[in-house]
Amino acid sequence: MENLIDGKAIASRIHAETSATVSELAAKSSLKPGLVFVRVGEDPASRAYVGMKEKMASEIGIDSRTIVLDEKTTQDELLGIIADLNSDTAVHGILVQAPLPSHIDERVIFSAVDPGKDVDGFHPVNVGKLMLGDTSGFRPCTPAGVHELLIRSGVETSGAEVVVLGRGNIVGKPMAAILMQKAAHANATVTVVHSRSRNVAESCRRADILIAAMGSAHFVKADMVKPGAVVIDVGVNRIDDPSAKRGYRLVGDVDFENIQPLAGMITPNPGGVGPMTIAMLMHNTALAASRAIA
Ligand code: GUN
Repeated sequence: MENLIDGKAIASRIHAETSATVSELAAKSSLKPGLVFVRVGEDPASRAYVGMKEKMASEIGIDSRTIVLDEKTTQDELLGIIADLNSDTAVHGILVQAPLPSHIDERVIFSAVDPGKDVDGFHPVNVGKLMLGDTSGFRPCTPAGVHELLIRSGVETSGAEVVVLGRGNIVGKPMAAILMQKAAHANATVTVVHSRSRNVAESCRRADILIAAMGSAHFVKADMVKPGAVVIDVGVNRIDDPSAKRGYRLVGDVDFENIQPLAGMITPNPGGVGPMTIAMLMHNTALAASRAIA
């Protein structure tokens, strides 16, 4: 299927580039990038995500470990752990896996991470820099990964009508900010469509590039897509499936089967955006380590 955007292949090229950066750091400065994951509680999805990230880190020569905390950990205890990681010079990247238990305020936690170690790009300083077009910060991994997919697939964004479905802090908002910048590989006309939007299907049909990140299984149907459009599926949704071993399966926000024949290009899901999130996390970690010695 020649219109597929192969996220796995593109991610593995980025991993090779990051590996090269890691080797250079070792040769020039005897430095090994250090990445610490913090996971609170036993959410199975979070456990799986962190496990995949940790495995990839070790494959490309990043020193990583996971601090697993009890579900009942207080906000102050978590802040204490972050303060220790902030002052540990062997740690270049800190990632506190979301979602956190409801008694912990994510905003307080993300704001406590040293912005120079915020490889998630969630700290207000990094969010602000992204908005301002200041490239000295860190970009959040999933929207940065979608951006790389578009660039490396040769998709023209300048002047393009982009519709982002979803306005979350992790994907929708930063995705819109990235593509609206007055900068190379951006300059798009961005519309953000969300749960209170009117005429959702009509807005989607205008899109040259449609990015679905609202977290609703197969929300995007074929009649919402302009023939030839580029369709990017960020969604990861659990749906019941009695025939599956675990009793559920994961599906995207896009009805891939019916849209793939009419799309100009489309990401598979899995194998599209997911691997890119991890690739950008590794990239950000190597960048954090490089900046720490600059
Ligand atoms: N939960 C879902 N996506 C992410 C992510 O990119 N980073 C963190 N820390 N948590 C997440």
